[in-house]
Amino acid sequence: MAVVDVKRRGDIALVTLDHPPVNALSQAVRSGLEDAVKTLGADPAVKAVVITGAGRCFSAGADITEFGGGPRKPPLYQVIHDIEALQKPVVAAMHGTSLGGGFEVALGCHYRIADTKAKMGLPEVKIGLIPGAGGTQRLPRAIGVTAALDMIVSGNPIDAETARRAGLVDRIAKGDLVEDALAYARELVASGAKPRRLSEKPVPMAGVAQDVFEKKRSSLGRHPSGKVAPNACIDAVEAATKLPFMDGMKHELELFMRCYASPEARALWHVFFAERAAAVIPDIGNDVKARKIETVGVLGAGTMGQGIAMSFANAGFPVTIVENAQEALDRGIAKMRETYESAAARGRMTPDEAKARFARLAPSLSLTDLKDKDLVIEAVFENMKIKKEIFGKLDALAKKGAILATNTSTLDVDEIALATTRPGDVLGMHFFSPANIMRLLEVVRGAKSEKDVIATAMSLAKRIGKVAVLAGVCDGFIGNRMVAAYGAEAQALALEGATPSQVDKAVTDWGLAMGPFAMSDLAGIDVGWRIRQERPLTNEQKMRYAVNDKIAELGRFGQKTGRGFYFYAKGERTPKPDPEVEAMYAEEAKRQGIARRAIGPEEIVERLLFQLANTGAQLLDEGIALRASDIDTVYVNGYGFPAWRGGPMWSVDEIGLKTAVDKMQAYEKMHGPRFTPAKLLARLAREGKRFNDRKSNEGK
Ligand code: NAI
Repeated sequence: MAVVDVKRRGDIALVTLDHPPVNALSQAVRSGLEDAVKTLGADPAVKAVVITGAGRCFSAGADITEFGGGPRKPPLYQVIHDIEALQKPVVAAMHGTSLGGGFEVALGCHYRIADTKAKMGLPEVKIGLIPGAGGTQRLPRAIGVTAALDMIVSGNPIDAETARRAGLVDRIAKGDLVEDALAYARELVASGAKPRRLSEKPVPMAGVAQDVFEKKRSSLGRHPSGKVAPNACIDAVEAATKLPFMDGMKHELELFMRCYASPEARALWHVFFAERAAAVIPDIGNDVKARKIETVGVLGAGTMGQGIAMSFANAGFPVTIVENAQEALDRGIAKMRETYESAAARGRMTPDEAKARFARLAPSLSLTDLKDKDLVIEAVFENMKIKKEIFGKLDALAKKGAILATNTSTLDVDEIALATTRPGDVLGMHFFSPANIMRLLEVVRGAKSEKDVIATAMSLAKRIGKVAVLAGVCDGFIGNRMVAAYGAEAQALALEGATPSQVDKAVTDWGLAMGPFAMSDLAGIDVGWRIRQERPLTNEQKMRYAVNDKIAELGRFGQKTGRGFYFYAKGERTPKPDPEVEAMYAEEAKRQGIARRAIGPEEIVERLLFQLANTGAQLLDEGIALRASDIDTVYVNGYGFPAWRGGPMWSVDEIGLKTAVDKMQAYEKMHGPRFTPAKLLARLAREGKRFNDRKSNEGK
């Protein structure tokens, strides 16, 4: 069957996009559609046309795998123009998702009908682009400036009912979508309805505030590079209000091309592909069947246990949450109730939804209640002895085939697994705090973890709305091992003369959500301090963390105690520089014989970034991470690394690995082997390659 199928139903033509899995508008689909439009336009026996999609959706938009290549004819805006120019009514019949170019096709149709579950939107901004096939010109004509700005700048889709209320769809299908669409087309023909073209409509301006565009611009994020595409979206919609339709289209295309050529868009595509590639594990094929997970148990109702339990409850799983003390259980449950109530109060979900989610949580003080669970996730204190004891008990009571996961952030998953007689069923599922919000999940593959156990965790992540990245067992896995090198470098910078706020400012000006010192204050300075106390440290580590540990010894744990690297006014979260801390660094530097100097933002960012990427390269050398893009996915989703910078590995790719190695070798001379380029980095630099090439990101 052709990618665009045309059938006659009496005097109505039914055009079906049929390009699985999501009817992406590839070159073949675009020309198929264009041919259909030409033929049907010239056929007097056809009185109206219905356009729909086969399979699970209308169309998810452009074929993103064509990105990066040159333009291929026919361009989508032309095909849509031709659809709109037809002299007979054209009805779009939408189900599933109609996104990006797919939605623009629907906007080019004269009438729209959707089924109740349809979703539609223009998500281009999320990959650094603007809609480029008339979306920014037709949507404001359909629903007005304010609503169009919201949809285009956020990139978030709306549902069928919202679309109907906005006047974007004319009808919601009651029965079979295609049959209802055909009936609608027949009605239109019978009533003599004419084509109704959005391009011929003025943008409704009644009641639109004069400063609507300025307000929207000032609502965007802080960093100019993070605003390239959102600003272009606003400019394009503004053009729709000022220019005739065809001039607006020209302007849209110019803005689109500018975005398309931007480094931000390239980084965002990388992030997009990287996320999809992360799901592919080379030695675990489709023949490995995931285990069935319907019930979940969580051990520990502390910070992480709560977040993990809510992640599963939010996705519809019944969750039993087990504590060893009534008081801790009550506290955990109360906190989760509060989280749901406040989400409902802020309009994030309906009160009924909040109640339903909370009702899926079953509190318990008995480990035995976990005996019939398909998956148990342990999130108790970070202590090997306790964890081993718990896994021993779980081994004795959990049903056969149950998956036993630990949320440990630093302990050896293999050692924990060996506390059971079934290490094949054990793995790490490392969530990030707050676990009900953060998208990242590191799936930690133990030496003995069965393939189907890993496959189950990876696919389960999708069901609970997380992005899973596979990691091997090592101290800190991917993210925390990198952050350790990054944090240690921040300490070195502070000893050498940069203040914590100078370091943080350099990093946030570069685009990160937070600098290393503010991050440490937020997470709690005591966390790293306690971990360091339990392990043998090198002399260099002791010297590097001297001030850090002194601050912790003073009970200055960060935000939670009102003091850490910064000072926090009561009830406030804004870090204020603390001269006492700065004096401590100066004093310690003197003691260690470190000459202090002013350090500029470029050096700060470069040194921190090289520590991240070089540790990333070591993780690849060791086989802990599968691919560079996985590391970027970890950093973008778990550590506030700006997506428009593509992640730490991508950022260093953009600098050029040869340049990076040269610079690192200069730092190596000054600071020693922590800047020695990792094997992989040195090799790729020699070969003139990048960490991330397109193929590896697509997981092929
Ligand atoms: P927490 O101290 O907030 O919670 C631990 C909970 O476990 C407490 O409520 C405690 O009463 C309970 N517990 C202790 N022994 C128990 C037992 N035998 N049976 C049942 N419950 C027991 O600690 P948090 O922060 O939630 O950490 C839990 C685990 O998650 C640790 O392994 C930690 O390393 C890991 N983790 C923590 C992250 C964080 O940001 N806090 C991030 C990722 C992992």
